[in-house]
This record gives sequence, C-alpha cells and structure tokens, in this order.
Amino acid sequence: MSIQRYLTGITTSGTPHLGNYVGSIRPSVRASLRSDVESYYFLADYHALIKIDDPTRIQCSTLEIAASWLAAGLDPERVVFYRQSDVPEIPELTWFLTCVLGKGVLNRAHAYKAAVDKNTAAGNDVDADVSVGLFMYPVLMGADILMFNAHHVPVGRDQVQHIEMARDMANSFNHRYGEHFTPPAAAVEDNVATLPGLDGRKMSKSYDNTIPLFSNRAQLQKLINSIVTDSKAPGEPKSTEGSALFQIYQAFASEAEADQLRQAYATGIAWGEAKNLVFERIDQEIAPMRETYLALINNPAKIEAILKAGADKARAMATPFMAQLRHAVGLRSLATQANVETKTAKVALPIFKQYRESDGQFYFKLLSADGALLLQSAAFASPKVAGQTIGKLQTEGAKALAEAAEYVHLAEGIDAAAVTDALQALMDAKTK
Ligand code: TRP
Repeated sequence: MSIQRYLTGITTSGTPHLGNYVGSIRPSVRASLRSDVESYYFLADYHALIKIDDPTRIQCSTLEIAASWLAAGLDPERVVFYRQSDVPEIPELTWFLTCVLGKGVLNRAHAYKAAVDKNTAAGNDVDADVSVGLFMYPVLMGADILMFNAHHVPVGRDQVQHIEMARDMANSFNHRYGEHFTPPAAAVEDNVATLPGLDGRKMSKSYDNTIPLFSNRAQLQKLINSIVTDSKAPGEPKSTEGSALFQIYQAFASEAEADQLRQAYATGIAWGEAKNLVFERIDQEIAPMRETYLALINNPAKIEAILKAGADKARAMATPFMAQLRHAVGLRSLATQANVETKTAKVALPIFKQYRESDGQFYFKLLSADGALLLQSAAFASPKVAGQTIGKLQTEGAKALAEAAEYVHLAEGIDAAAVTDALQALMDAKTK
C-alpha cells in the first residue's frame, strides 16, 4: 500500500461557514484519519491578499479558520498543518513556475476570464481593476501543491481547472529539467454536497448568504429560520426538490433521518417545524466542537505555536526540495559550477593518437571524446610528416581535412559533419 499525499488549503479571507465545513473541513479531517494517507492542510494567506486589503480581517480570518480546523478534529501531530506565508519556498517556487507556464493558460483561467468578461460588458478596459495577483492566482496555487508533490487535491468543482494547470506546470517543468514533480489530480468528492446558502444559491462569502460555522445556538437558530422556503401553508405537501432547507439537512443527517424528513415534507410539515428540526440536528454535530473552538480562539498564542510547529515540518521538506530545484534550473554555487565546467571541458575533447604498426609505418587516428573512431590515416613513412598532418588538422580543421583527403579517411559509419565538429572543438580549445 503506497502512501498517498493529500493537500488542501483554505483562503483566509473570511469566517468559516457551514458550506466550508461540509465541503472541505469535515471531509479533510475524516481523510486525515486514514492510515494510508499523508495530509497537508494549510491556511492560504498569500491567496487572501488578492481579495482582501484589510489587514485585521486577514489576521482574524487566519485565527478563525485555524481554530475551526482544530476544533473539527484535525490533529496537528498527525498531519502537516501550516500557514502558507510561513513557507517562503512557496513564493520562490511560484516564480520558477511562472517561467515554465504559458501566459495563454492564465488568460483562460475562470476567475480572470470572469473579470475580463465583466469589464468587456461594461465597456471598460479588459484589465480594469485586475491585479497581477488575480492573474497569477493559479500559479501560486500550483506552487502550494507541487511544493509537497501532492497526489490528490480535494477541492470543489470550481477549483478543478486550477489543478489541471498545476499538472501543466509540473509537466513543463519536468520536461525541461527532469522528473521533479508529481502531476497532481483533483479529488472532487461527488458525495460531498455543495451546500446552498440562506437564499438557495451556493453558500458563499461572495453572496453574503452564509451561516457561520461557529455561530452560537441563538444565532444559528435565527439564521436557519431565515433560509428561504416557498409559501406553502402547514398541512400542504412540500417538495424536497430544490429545497435549500432539505439539502442542508441532508448534509448532516443520516439516510434514515433524511428519509423521515422527506416523509414529513410529503405529509405537510410546517416550515417552522422543519426548520427547528434542521437546527437541532446541525447543533447536535456542532455544539461539542463549539466549545473547543471558543477555547482556542481565546488562546491565539497556542494556535500560533501549533502553526509554527507545522511550518517547521513543512519546511523540513520544502527547504531541501527547493535546493534541489534551484540546482536543477541552474541557480547554483559558482564554486561547484566552475569545477564542473573544467571537468567536462577536459573530458569533452576529441583526441589524436599517433602510433606505429608492426609494418614499421606510422599512422594516426582521431577519436571522439567518448572514444569512437572518427578518422583513420593511411601509412606514413615518416613520423614527422604524420605529426605535421595532425598539426594542420588541429589548427585548420575542415579545410585541412579536405586537403589531406588522400591520406586521411572517415571511419566507417561516421559522417563528415561529426568530424568537422570534433576538429572545431579542438580548434576552440586551442584558442581559449
Ligand atoms: N484556491 C483555493 C480556494 O479558494 C484555496 C487554495 C489555495 C488551495 N491554494 C490551494 C486549495 C492549494 C487546494 C490546494 O478554495
């Protein structure tokens, strides 16, 4: 059984809500308990800078998301749990990846394209209000993933394109510099629901329709009461189809519980009563975590220490890997590079060999750097003449070869260009 690496991040741009919990936090925590899985969870705070220019909000969100993950049962001893900005190798890798990724790929990224379309529709410059950060978002995400050679990236459907881009980056880098990266795959869990929000659209910070994960009981109840329903009266049969309330319930309830509510819908349960049922069911799951959450939020230094320890673990991998990548692309110590150059220069040169056969005549041959026979001379009565011919070939190259055609011939299977190159290499070495 080979260990599979899972990695996922949450952007620290807001307060975690039930949609984050159901779609990301809960499945992540469950996956982290599997013994054949190595998990990496991080707070994507560099990503948050793209959308948020309120420093306090970034800091609060980082604290809240970290506390939510821990309260939901993530065990920092078992997984690598860290903050993106504590790993400086990630932005360094981002730059490497920008240099192997075609700009056209980023032009097609959904988030950027949506901004361009919006500007176009409004008659603005296509790039109005688009930061380079927004444009580069997928590359930073690629670096997050490739830094740890994750095999699987659990994400929502909207992020699948980014994982495909990360594969592209891995493949282009590997193609140029050798096999360094594992191309990752998106792990879209089909049985993980996308939770609808209060208004029935996908629960999302950007729609302002969320239920914060750790609302207190009263707030939670109030918010659940505000989930949109139709105006069917108590006693009237209700449809579960397209009912946000029902879908939210399903994300928390067992099959049997969901069936019961489906029955109740059919027999005309009042909306108020249904909402109460949903509220109690959700609170049953959240309440125990809420206490841990509050304790953590009130002890930020503890969370900071946990994240720092996680960053140490992350960097124990990222630092040597980055050193390997720097070497691969040619960002190397000059001291070692100079050695390598002289060594290869010596080894790389072709060589003339002069010798006497048992017939008493003098001969020479030209061998390539790796020992293949390139040229063979005819017999010379005088070693001096043989030596002079070699001298001419070494200083005049192809021109001398043409003149000496009578005494020197190409070895079998060798073409003239290979010999010309070899002679040129000798001439170049002389003039250095
Ligand atoms: N872009 C992701 C989101 O908004 C967050 C994220 C950043 C991420 N880097 C990642 C997710 C790497 C998975 C892997 O949801």
